[in-house]
Amino acid sequence: MTTVGIIGAGAMGSGIAQVAAKAGNEVVLFDTNIEALELSKTKLAKILARLLEKNRMTALETEALKSRISYATRLESLADSGLIIEAIVENLEIKKGVFTALETLVSEGCIMASNTSSLSITSIAAACKKPERVLGIHFFNPAPLMPLVEIIPALQTHDSNALKARNIIDSWGKVTVVTKDTPGFIVNRLARPFYGEAIRMLEEGVASIATIDWAMKEIGGFRMGPFELTDYIGHDVNYVVTETVFKAFFYDPRYKPSFSQKRLLEAGRLGRKSGHGFYDYSENAVNPSPNTNRELGGKIVKRILVMLINEAVDALFLNIASAKELDLAMTKGVNYPKGLLAWADEIGLELILNQLEELYANYGEDRYRPSPLLRKMVRKQQSFF
Ligand code: NAI
Repeated sequence: MTTVGIIGAGAMGSGIAQVAAKAGNEVVLFDTNIEALELSKTKLAKILARLLEKNRMTALETEALKSRISYATRLESLADSGLIIEAIVENLEIKKGVFTALETLVSEGCIMASNTSSLSITSIAAACKKPERVLGIHFFNPAPLMPLVEIIPALQTHDSNALKARNIIDSWGKVTVVTKDTPGFIVNRLARPFYGEAIRMLEEGVASIATIDWAMKEIGGFRMGPFELTDYIGHDVNYVVTETVFKAFFYDPRYKPSFSQKRLLEAGRLGRKSGHGFYDYSENAVNPSPNTNRELGGKIVKRILVMLINEAVDALFLNIASAKELDLAMTKGVNYPKGLLAWADEIGLELILNQLEELYANYGEDRYRPSPLLRKMVRKQQSFF
């Protein structure tokens, strides 16, 4: 067991603190904002009370978990940590500042990680005197419930530190995948077309919001449709991730954000949390029903799915992670009904390539270009698994 320091007591930091404490570690949760710490403590008490009520934990266990977390407003309180996970505001300069201050306090052996969704781990590490102990440890929201954690070594990270960090997170009962330090890592890269292609179809008038959501759930087997999901995540979060990934990929048109989502953001229609997004969540709102034509539904699912699969194939082509880890990431990080590459095998790679080529021929846009690996595998009649 090691003492775990968490920086930032927001949604992610609080969740990670709960996971680390549940696994038996002493946790120090640090935030500059005392109200954030108080809120985090109250929320945890509520969560644990519910778990107790449902007999998922005993009173002894919930009390022990609570007693293992201490709350701090001074960075110095993290000095004895063996592992520190930073989960503060998504801003590179602020994160770099925290890491620079942190490394003057901690012991030689302390591993320092960031939970960033979209920033370069290599840049954060570069701000440190000992960048070889810095890496990305990326949890998913809510951290106590989502099994996946992406482990992202920076260019400078020493292998032994990445391995040590991975072993610790594995021992907390999480499913870890190792990924290259590239924009969006695995999940936030592979999932872009789930939102992007859905919005594109809406803009083109292929189908309505409700119809696309219905098709992706009913025919595609996804737990939530793209519009429901972005409303749930919040357009402030989802749009910013899309825009960050787009910029970080040197403006690759494949990742281009949409005006529809940008306008929602500008209008303050952030989704569920603001009462209005793609859907209206006000009390007496009547949202339109879907067109449940299965032929149309099938077309919608096929178009989004081939785009998702193409993204996964391209990530494999560029060695972002192994085929197994790419699939694990999507099933364990965002609850996809199947891994995208296994799904590709099931559908048949030739069919997928044909569909992409048809889209590419129709639109002449780079976003539909098939991955070179997909072409090669079709040529050689190969499969992923
Ligand atoms: P949040 O806004 O809920 O919490 C951030 C907390 O950090 C706040 O309590 C704030 O007071 C504190 N903070 C800000 N600057 C600080 C500083 N200099 N020192 C100490 N504390 C400071 O943010 P959230 O959603 O928890 O995200 C945190 C990080 O996790 C971000 O990097 C985000 O990209 C990443 N992330 C977020 C996910 C999500 O779904 N919300 C999922 C995975 C990663």
